[in-house]
Amino acid sequence: MHDTPAIQHQHDQVRALRWSEEGLYILDQRLLPEAIQYHLCTQASQVAEAIRTMQVRGAPAIGIAAAYGVVLAARQCWQDHGNQWKQFIKTEIECLAHSRPTAVNLFWALNRMAELIEVLEEDPVARLLKEAKAIHLEDIAANRKMGALGAQTIGTVQGVLTHCNTGSLATGGYGTALGVIRSLKQQGNFTQDEIQVYATETRPWLQGARLTLWELEQDRIPATLIADSAAAFLMQQGRIQWVIVGADRIAANGDVANKIGTYSLAVSARQHGLGFMVVAPTSTIDRNLPQGGLIPIEEREDKELLPEYYRRSDSLAKAWNPVFDITPAELITALVTERGVIPKPDPASLKKLLQDV
Ligand code: MRU
Repeated sequence: MHDTPAIQHQHDQVRALRWSEEGLYILDQRLLPEAIQYHLCTQASQVAEAIRTMQVRGAPAIGIAAAYGVVLAARQCWQDHGNQWKQFIKTEIECLAHSRPTAVNLFWALNRMAELIEVLEEDPVARLLKEAKAIHLEDIAANRKMGALGAQTIGTVQGVLTHCNTGSLATGGYGTALGVIRSLKQQGNFTQDEIQVYATETRPWLQGARLTLWELEQDRIPATLIADSAAAFLMQQGRIQWVIVGADRIAANGDVANKIGTYSLAVSARQHGLGFMVVAPTSTIDRNLPQGGLIPIEEREDKELLPEYYRRSDSLAKAWNPVFDITPAELITALVTERGVIPKPDPASLKKLLQDV
């Protein structure tokens, strides 16, 4: 399996996505940490299915996978229909767009590919592949920049808490919130050598327990797992100074949609006078959405949550399984993007940040 030469592993070992001539290899995150298995996708519909079933997840990684999915669609449409390829690719893009609703990076990447398709004529595959690889590389570069900016904003710290998985597995590489933690570690910004990175379990899908701990271990970064319900007590004990999270969509007023439980962490951080940092590339900002209440929140099947015992037709027990929540902008101490840090995000500061984008 070949990797794009420029997409090297200089600072982190793990890659969720690898392009090769055969197609897109996706690391199946449902199987981690027990098994490391890449599945080859040769069709856009397979990429859509991999996103829907969370073989690949995390807002930026979903966007990158979808961009490569468009390349696969173009390859098929060009092969089957020649010069008529554009008439057929729209349905494939629609299929990718319906894979998951909340992370705006998916629609951002598809729009970028669709705008390029508008101006392409003859054999489109090479040009679209170049664009997908650019999206992938730009994401890693943005993460490295945000890592440095976030670490600079935090300075010296004893302990931090992160939620869900926002690392190499959730992005093109390096990570958003986890990228800031990598940068803090590289710069020796921790006040002691003991374990100071705390990761929430992130129920019900266990992104923290299964994915964050695993990818940090690949890079020899020690981390301590806590139950989601232990977070407020951790704060009360004075063990952390910052909560650092990623985002799936940020509204124009700075409200943030992120993994369910993020809002509770922000409320608790405010109660304990701690910093609450959101780290996300500008591709996660939805400038057309005035406020967080308008962000579509995905609800997944209750079987992800409900114990087997209750999954009988005569059972009265049900589950409600929203997988994201909205953190109001007023609870955010710093929003870190690749274009700079906004201390207290609001409509004016976000508008200024997005000027010329
Ligand atoms: O349901 P998931 O695992 O796709 O949710 C992922 C998150 O909520 C992440 O925090 C977010 O995508 C930011 S990842 C850089």
